[in-house]
Amino acid sequence: MATRVGILTGGGDCPGLNAVIRAAVYRGKNEYNMEFVGIRYGWKGLLEKDTIPLNIDDVRDTIAIGGTMLRTSRTNPTKTEKYIKTAIKNFRDLELDYLIAIGGEDTLGAAFKLWKIDNDFRVVGVPKTIDNDLWGTDVTFGFDTAINLAVEAIDHLHTTARSHNRVMVVELMGRHAGWITLEAGIGGGADIILIPEVPFDIEKDLCEPLRKLKAEGREYAIVAVSEGAKLKVDEDRDGSLIIQEVDRDEFGHVRLGGIAKALAEQIEDRVGWESRFVVLGHLQRGGPPSAFDRVLSTRYGIAAADAVAEGLSGVMIALKGSVVEPIEMTEEIKNIKKLPEEYRRMAKLFSPKTGK
Ligand code: F6P
Repeated sequence: MATRVGILTGGGDCPGLNAVIRAAVYRGKNEYNMEFVGIRYGWKGLLEKDTIPLNIDDVRDTIAIGGTMLRTSRTNPTKTEKYIKTAIKNFRDLELDYLIAIGGEDTLGAAFKLWKIDNDFRVVGVPKTIDNDLWGTDVTFGFDTAINLAVEAIDHLHTTARSHNRVMVVELMGRHAGWITLEAGIGGGADIILIPEVPFDIEKDLCEPLRKLKAEGREYAIVAVSEGAKLKVDEDRDGSLIIQEVDRDEFGHVRLGGIAKALAEQIEDRVGWESRFVVLGHLQRGGPPSAFDRVLSTRYGIAAADAVAEGLSGVMIALKGSVVEPIEMTEEIKNIKKLPEEYRRMAKLFSPKTGK
């Protein structure tokens, strides 16, 4: 009998999800004669048995399309005992042999937990997030598309900032890791880069360098700030995150946002330099995947189908150097991958030294 494989996408969407699904279905059907079931809206679809068949015709023309053809949600199937029981029961009722779960630390953390509870709930994880902050893999797909869009946006900000002699503050996604802000800030030639990993002093790390730039005759400046960057209150204390919405989703996340606006106001008040802000927001998550993401996603999809064919479970596909391979998931899947020291230092390199 053909192996029956469910596929779901959970958490925030990102470019490349369809490319993973497409490659897994091609590989699974053509090489291993597998049968695929699309589970809609992430874990919500498993809890509600909301499924569609997935055949080659359904996935063929999707490589260039962003988002997810299976749709997504932030439903947490391990939130209650009842959810856990329903998820495991529905896996059986749908006669699934395997589940390919494509997601970030929440989705893969839930997949790992369900598999730990019941080893017949066989899972292969595929790491996704524009934030690039997932444990175990060098890169997640979606990140490259996001930073390319952000770099292009910052390029555009340079010309308008120069024309108006302004500071432009651009806010980037990434929650508690600064990968997008750092790489887009470096690639876009930002003067000041503020990341969650390094809480900043508003005078020392923002206003003083801007005063210095102004005094040196610079006509404009670009500040790249992560939505999750925090002020340093004193040596031992960080300020709080700026949030748009206090309500938490099922995985406990608040909605971040608003720091660029707050900083632009502070720059005008303290430095006396006209400032504007831009929040790139969900533009970073939408649109067609970059060439790099299309190929990486395809490699992940192929490796996921191969892992199923090999009978592996409790694994996730990871990029290690230039090799795509399955690795065992552990409790660490829930820990986010922060910027290493080399990158943190790079964030400061292009900001003028003030001697303070
Ligand atoms: O994790 C991906 C991400 O885009 C984060 O960078 C961001 O903070 C969050 O999702 C936004 O989530 P939502 O789409 O629910 O507003």
